[in-house]
Amino acid sequence: MKSRGKSVIGGWWNLGLPSVFLLCLFFFLLGLFASVLFSQQDVPTVRSRVLESVDLEKDFNPLPTGVSGDDSFTSIPFQVLSWFPRALYFPNFASIEQCQSIIKIAKTSLEPSSLALRKGETEETTKGIRTSSGTFISASEDKTGILDLIEEKIARVTMIPKTHGEAFNVLRYEIGQRYQSHYDAFDPAQYGPQNSQRVASFLLYLSDVEEGGETVFPFESAQNMDGTYDYSKCIGLKVKPRRGDGLLFYSLLPNGTIDLTSLHGSCPVIRGEKWVATKWIRNIEQDE
Ligand SMILES: *[C@@H]1O[C@H](CO)[C@@H](O)[C@H](O)[C@H]1NC(C)=O
Repeated sequence: MKSRGKSVIGGWWNLGLPSVFLLCLFFFLLGLFASVLFSQQDVPTVRSRVLESVDLEKDFNPLPTGVSGDDSFTSIPFQVLSWFPRALYFPNFASIEQCQSIIKIAKTSLEPSSLALRKGETEETTKGIRTSSGTFISASEDKTGILDLIEEKIARVTMIPKTHGEAFNVLRYEIGQRYQSHYDAFDPAQYGPQNSQRVASFLLYLSDVEEGGETVFPFESAQNMDGTYDYSKCIGLKVKPRRGDGLLFYSLLPNGTIDLTSLHGSCPVIRGEKWVATKWIRNIEQDE
């Protein structure tokens, strides 16, 4: 028995290298054939499922457009944060590289942020309300073309032409720095007659903030509006900055009056550093 077993094993060994090679080739081809066969069965179902969710053109069939329209669909995800004020959140509105590039440009010309003064206010009486540093950059000044792309995208989501936008105000908040709650729109009763009005604001967060630095809406859904609100307090709807994400809110109601719930501020940064690019959008075209 032993010798027979041995001889069988020996027999296998005696097949030699060419036969082993042929055997391997045989199994390899068998495997290849099987995999092609199976994948042929699988591929159509997998592909059609992908196509169902991705091919907007096929599902919705774009309409013929006017001269300035698009012949394709655009998908820009957003989340409604609030109806009072009307506030939308856009995850991944800009890429990490775009954010880094904007910060790099802004860093060269930062100055202490200033404040539009109300009747009777002075720089001295308003000290501490807005403590960030910032700089104004128009899209045409950015040779990388990134601000132009961002501006274009903001115009698409607001459907307010980019000619209505002020230059980007890029802001840096260091630890302890903040902007007390305020309106972006200018009430003529407090600021005097206005040539135009800010309709909406778009904030593009250029950095994450480890702690603090939230954009806060204290009067969201008319809460805290009993007249006792302390403007330095960070209460109400808080939006934590996330790099690349956008926040859009409207300062005017559809009928053109100032939305009192659009009061907002920037909570003090507790850990880290906050960078944000702000675009104020007006009701009429801006020079420049
Ligand atoms: C505008 O709309 C608001 C909210 O609906 C309303 O309270 C206000 O009176 C309106 N103002 C004018 C001038 O129509």
